[in-house]
Amino acid sequence: MDRYVSIHLDRSLDKPLYVQVFEGIVRLIEQKTILPGEKLPPIRKLAALLKVNTVTIVNAYRFLEKEGFAVSKVGSGTYVSPSLKPSAVEDLKKEPVMKKAGKTSGHGPYFNPQADSDIRAEKEQEGNVRYDFASAAISPEFFPVEEFKEVLNEVLDRDRGYAFGYQESMGYPPLRQSISELMFKDYDIKLPAEEIQIVSGAQQGIDIIAKAFLNYQDTVYVEVPTYTGAIDAFKSRGAKIVEIPLDPDGINIDELRARLKVKTPVLFYTMPNFHNPTGYSYSEQKKKELIALAREYDFLIVEDDHMNDLYFEEKPSPLKAMDDDGHVLYIKSFSKLFMPGLRLAFIASKKEFGMRIADAKYYSDISSSGLTQRAMDLFFRKSLWPGHARRMRTIFREKWQAIRLAIEEHIPRDINCKSPGGGLFFWLNLPQGYYSMNLYNMALKQGLLIMPGDFFYPDRRPSTGFRLSFAEIAPEDIKSGIKLLAETIEKLFQEYRLNPLRNNNFRPLL
Ligand SMILES: Cc1ncc(COP(=O)(O)O)c(C=O)c1O
Repeated sequence: MDRYVSIHLDRSLDKPLYVQVFEGIVRLIEQKTILPGEKLPPIRKLAALLKVNTVTIVNAYRFLEKEGFAVSKVGSGTYVSPSLKPSAVEDLKKEPVMKKAGKTSGHGPYFNPQADSDIRAEKEQEGNVRYDFASAAISPEFFPVEEFKEVLNEVLDRDRGYAFGYQESMGYPPLRQSISELMFKDYDIKLPAEEIQIVSGAQQGIDIIAKAFLNYQDTVYVEVPTYTGAIDAFKSRGAKIVEIPLDPDGINIDELRARLKVKTPVLFYTMPNFHNPTGYSYSEQKKKELIALAREYDFLIVEDDHMNDLYFEEKPSPLKAMDDDGHVLYIKSFSKLFMPGLRLAFIASKKEFGMRIADAKYYSDISSSGLTQRAMDLFFRKSLWPGHARRMRTIFREKWQAIRLAIEEHIPRDINCKSPGGGLFFWLNLPQGYYSMNLYNMALKQGLLIMPGDFFYPDRRPSTGFRLSFAEIAPEDIKSGIKLLAETIEKLFQEYRLNPLRNNNFRPLL
């Protein structure tokens, strides 16, 4: 282990620690301090020695493997590649390591989501994250655990072993009925129970729709920016992704029309209300136009309703409410507002698609958990849902107001931002030429986390936009957090003013 002490890590650099560990090990190979075929230290030991998170070492080893410096043997560990050619080290000298690291995603290293979790894990481990505006999951302290415990116990007493048997693939029938009633009461939408398919979370819902409707090379339109979990699901079916820009009042209809004239997609994936990451909602006019276009060109709309219940102004209407002839495949998740770990959502589609969707669900995981479905059903039947949703709206409305005010007061005027009417996200745009990944890196050093826009584009391209989430942050931290963000933005501007080229240096390598 002594030989590894010489690996020097500098936390003040922009370079992620895993890249520094990677470079340190390559240097040891180059100096012949460690030899081809030799086993690298166990992850935990090296992490302890270098005082870093184990994720950092895992990433460094993965990177060594990717670049041909190491091989891993299942159950044994990671070894310096026995067939390491001297040219590998020479190649590395020719091509800067940061550029190589960026190859993972086709961009610079800061575009590597793994690197992001690497830095984040480091900061979190060191207790350095003071302001988390990145997390999109609400804090578990808001989960209705006591109420859920009661319904769980009641289900266990009532259904005993039946709660643990195989369930119907389409879902527990009383739950489908409860959902049907809830959607009518809350949103005035008639969704017969036969048209409801229970799934284990919206992510599975998207994946199941991809399985049920897409063939290899089919076209899917998506808004950009968007939730990339959906893109990954579509890509896993070999679909071609076409990006349609999203405006603050909904999809850019002219661009959509122009695209439709060239190619009709099989699916159009959208979040019409409180979009992730922008928080934007479609105007009623755009909703109507989108539905009309789906009819005219005969494609299916996948509506991802992940957040409709978290409204702070007007209650939004899902697209599904306007869908008279079944062009909308509606997915509603109970993750965001309720408890993500329950893994519960549903797809509503017209009856003729029911079997196709149920088959895809069956091939995925046979059925969602019987216990969870039964407990959720009882939660609805005891009318506990409206109270919970109301409580969440009250709690998050307060945070939404605080962040709105803080943005208005502190964020420079040339940062463009449209306040959302609900949900958990604000989307801010830096002026042209500034990249949010650079802001992210500067902010991270101050213990402030934001979500750079790059993560919401299919190709992770550099973006001026970034997302602020108020899911996790405590109300009392909002003002000071936004103030710190504003100061960091000013610093970014100053760096650029002092040396315009600096921004380019900062810019991830393309
Ligand atoms: C827009 C959107 N859709 C779907 C999902 C996945 O949700 P679930 O937890 O229900 O699978 C997420 C999760 O972050 C999301 O943001």
